[in-house]
Amino acid sequence: MQLLVTGGAGFIGSNFVRYWLEHHPEDSITNLDLLTYAGNLENLKGIDEKRYTFIQGDICDASVVKQAMEGAEVVIHFAAESHVDRSIEGSLPFLKTNVLGTQTLLDEAHRRGSQIRRFHHISTDEVFGALDLDTNETFNEKTPYDPRSPYSASKAASDHLVRAYQHTHQLPITISNCSNNYGPYHYPEKFIPLMIVQALHDKPLPLYGDGKNVRDWIHVEDHCAGIEAILLKGQVGETYCLGGNAERANIDVIKQILRELKKPESLIRFVSDRKGHDRRYAIDASKAKRELAWEPKKNFDEGLTETIQWFLHHEDWWKPLLP
Ligand SMILES: NC(=O)c1ccc[n+]([C@@H]2O[C@H](COP(=O)([O-])OP(=O)(O)OC[C@H]3O[C@@H](n4cnc5c(N)ncnc54)[C@H](O)[C@@H]3O)[C@@H](O)[C@H]2O)c1
Repeated sequence: MQLLVTGGAGFIGSNFVRYWLEHHPEDSITNLDLLTYAGNLENLKGIDEKRYTFIQGDICDASVVKQAMEGAEVVIHFAAESHVDRSIEGSLPFLKTNVLGTQTLLDEAHRRGSQIRRFHHISTDEVFGALDLDTNETFNEKTPYDPRSPYSASKAASDHLVRAYQHTHQLPITISNCSNNYGPYHYPEKFIPLMIVQALHDKPLPLYGDGKNVRDWIHVEDHCAGIEAILLKGQVGETYCLGGNAERANIDVIKQILRELKKPESLIRFVSDRKGHDRRYAIDASKAKRELAWEPKKNFDEGLTETIQWFLHHEDWWKPLLP
C-alpha cells in the first residue's frame, strides 16, 4: 500500500513514519512537509529510504499536493501549525495551514475519486474546549465542539471541513481527536521537552498560572498504534477519540521531571497564565477500545522516564533547536 503522510517531519508525523515502515514492510510512504521551524529531517534519520520519498512543499500549494498524492491510496494528514502559544501571538499561519491546507488536500483527494481509499485527519481533543478540575467529566466523540484558542479553532474548522467532504462528496474519511502526546523527537518548545531541557541546564522551569491545569498524556507510540487501528479497522465517516488514561496536573509533571533528574524544586518559576488557558482535558477512549480493540499501553510514569532518558542521550538532536 502507498501512503501519503503530511507533516511527516514533525513530532508525531515522524514517529508515525517510523512506526508504519517498521510494522508494514510491504508499504511505502511519501512524506509531504514544508519543513517549517517544527519540521526536522533529523527526526527520520535511519529509516528505510527504499520505501520512503520526501517532498518538501506546502500543503496549501495545489500543484505540490497533486504531485505528492500521485499513486497514494491512503492519506494521513498530520501537517499543521501546532503550538497554542504561537497561535495567540499570531493566528494567520494557523488558519492558512490548518484550514486552507486541509481544504487543498481534500480537494485533491476528492478529484482522484476511488484512488483514495481513506483520508485520515489527525486532530486534537482541544476542539472540545475545557473541563472543570472538580469533575470526572471526559470528552468523547459526541462532545459538542467548543474551541477556545486560535489553534483549537483552526483544528475545529478543519475537522468540520473533513466531515463536510464526506457528507457532500462521499470522501472516505476518518478523524481522530487525540490528547497531549509526549515522547522522542518532541520539539523543545512544548511543555514536557521544554521542562526537561530547562532542568538539564539548571535553568528556571516556567509554569503557567497556579500549575494545576490538567492534561491527559499519551505516549506518541500509543497514538501511532491508535491511528494504525483506525486505518485497518475503523469505519469510514467515523471519529475516534484517543487518550492516554493519564491525567496529570502540570505541576506534578514538572516535579516528576525534577525528581528524575535530581534537580531542586526551587527551579520552578510560576509565570503569568497563558491567555484563555484551558483548565483540564480528559478523553474517554472507550469507543476505540470497543470497536478497534485499541487502548494505550504505555504507563505514563515509565513513558516519562524513558522520554527523559531519550533526551539525555540525544543532546545532539535537541541542542541545535534551542533559541
Ligand atoms: N502534539 C500533540 O500533543 C498533539 C495532540 C493531538 C493532535 N495533534 C495534531 O497532530 C498533528 C501533528 O502534531 P505535531 O505535534 O507532530 O506537530 P509539529 O509542529 O511537531 O509538526 C508539524 C509538521 O507539519 C509541517 N508543516 C507545517 N505547516 C505545513 C505546511 N503548510 N505544509 C506542509 N507541512 C507543514 C511542519 O514542518 C512539521 O513537520 C497536528 O495536526 C496536531 O494538531 C497534536
